[in-house]
Amino acid sequence: MLPDLVKKSRSFRRFDAAQRVDAGTLRELVELARFSPSAMNKQPLKFILSADAERNELIYRHLGWAGGLPDWDGPAPDERPTGYIIILGDSDIRDSFGCDHGIAAQSILLGATDRGLGGCMFGSVKRERLRGALAIPDRYEILLVVAIGKPAETVVLDDVGEDGDVGYWRDDADVHHVPKRTLDELILDI
Ligand SMILES: Cc1cc2nc3c(=O)[nH]c(=O)nc-3n(C[C@H](O)[C@H](O)[C@H](O)COP(=O)(O)O)c2cc1C
Repeated sequence: MLPDLVKKSRSFRRFDAAQRVDAGTLRELVELARFSPSAMNKQPLKFILSADAERNELIYRHLGWAGGLPDWDGPAPDERPTGYIIILGDSDIRDSFGCDHGIAAQSILLGATDRGLGGCMFGSVKRERLRGALAIPDRYEILLVVAIGKPAETVVLDDVGEDGDVGYWRDDADVHHVPKRTLDELILDI
């Protein structure tokens, strides 16, 4: 059911690195992005795939992991994603990309969840360094990176409490908690 899929599709940052994602699966996930909405149907997004350990490691180094958990250094080598999809904007097609990349990333993550995988979108990217490392031509704007793997952490959704704190956090059992604002707070009575 769709509501279960959406709820299950959390941002995972710790994975079982022994369970590798293959390039064919990443291609299937981009196929879901291909069928996603695009402003004026211009479809300016392009994608770079990585299911290769060496290339994955290179991409990993250019990402900002969980800014909300400053005491955490990011996943250990055996907890790292086994695949990445880099979402690019092709400036030969458009010079701004609206929210196309967010929609594409969500389609990718829902598809990953549907396959028993999971991942996380990264807006915090050392873009120019990643461009240099992968020799990405200037024509392509680096919009988002989506990490994919077999999740190896528990993530639970909580309602935002009285204090209004929306910061995600980890409890003593290393369970990752994500406070979500209540429906009543979101829907305005106007
Ligand atoms: C556009 C966007 C950019 C994000 N960038 C990062 C990022 O750079 N690093 C990171 O660890 N998480 C990133 N996230 C994940 C958010 O932190 C995550 O969505 C939020 O904590 C809520 O958790 P949930 O996705 O499980 O609901 C990003 C999410 C979105 C939508």
